[in-house]
Amino acid sequence: MKNLGAFPIVSFVSFVSFVSIQAQQPQPPEPQFDPAAVERGQQLLASQCGFCHGSTGRGAASGPDLTRSELVQNDDNGTQLGAFLAVGRPDRGMPPFDLSRAQVSDLATFLHRAIYFASNRRLYKILDILVGDKQAGEAYFNGAGRCGTCHSPAGNLRGVGAKYDPVTLQGRLLLPRGRPPNPGGPPPPPLYTEPTAMKVSVTTPSGETASGALVRLTDFEVTLYEASSGRMRSWLRNGDVPKVVVTDPLQAHVDQLTKWTDADMHNMTAYLASLK
Ligand code: HEC
Ligand code: HEC
Repeated sequence: MKNLGAFPIVSFVSFVSFVSIQAQQPQPPEPQFDPAAVERGQQLLASQCGFCHGSTGRGAASGPDLTRSELVQNDDNGTQLGAFLAVGRPDRGMPPFDLSRAQVSDLATFLHRAIYFASNRRLYKILDILVGDKQAGEAYFNGAGRCGTCHSPAGNLRGVGAKYDPVTLQGRLLLPRGRPPNPGGPPPPPLYTEPTAMKVSVTTPSGETASGALVRLTDFEVTLYEASSGRMRSWLRNGDVPKVVVTDPLQAHVDQLTKWTDADMHNMTAYLASLK
């Protein structure tokens, strides 16, 4: 009974680990998704498939939600997806794609991760919020994370914890590209109209330069959206002609993807969630 005095202090901690263990126990071991492959898959999806399936693959006006596709759900590391993409369903508006095995595998990794997160929302909610230490998150925000160079809790991140549920918040933290998912809502506007779209500048051999949001980039073609005129412009590509330079307004977030440890990410999610 001597220990009773200390109980209120340890109880929160043990409650936290109790809840997380309870939440984890009935689940199979958490699958690992290579963050670099996820990022490459997301970029590829946004640039090649986003036009029809939405920038996160969750569906848009001219293509279905890929995370609900049985074909994708039953895919094994890109095998079935790759076979499908090679032929597409041209008669129904799905063109064939000539992608490398590695590209298909990146796409598959991104989609399998999205499916996993979608089907484990409850688990993630509990783990993210209760396991993280928001003080440690705040310290990382102002310290090693260098988040304060672009954000402030009273400025552009004000109320971010009230704006999103924890799962969406963690997604925004990782890669805040496009609009957050809004299931059942109207389809999101095209990614290239968003301030977070990748930017591209194109310089022709005659020295003419154009720049705008990247719509599509393949070995054969580059298309950009010029916000000032509301126009799409395209060029055929042949090697380095015309010269194409892509920049990412979210480069800091992309660079951070490979630096996150699970602990830092949980702490940061807990900290951001507390910004109500
Ligand atoms: C021009 C629009 C367009 C583009 C670009 C596009 N798709 Fe599709 N996709 C569609 C349409 C439309 C369907 C539905 C076809 C049908 O009804 O059978 C579809 C179907 C699919 C399906 C099958 C869903 C199912 O379960 O039946 C997958 C998987 C898929 N697309 C993946 C992709 C990927 C990955 C990319 C990018 C590499 C991509 N699509 C690019 C229009 C598009
Ligand atoms: C070099 C600038 C830069 C740095 C550094 C940076 N971000 Fe961002 N961040 C952005 C931009 C640009 C956006 C997209 C525009 C926006 O939503 O404010 C963004 C968006 C976000 C969002 C989504 C906000 C929303 O309302 O959807 C969160 C959360 C966020 N950042 C957290 C962080 C954290 C945490 C760090 C540190 C690990 C960090 N950022 C580092 C530039 C940066």
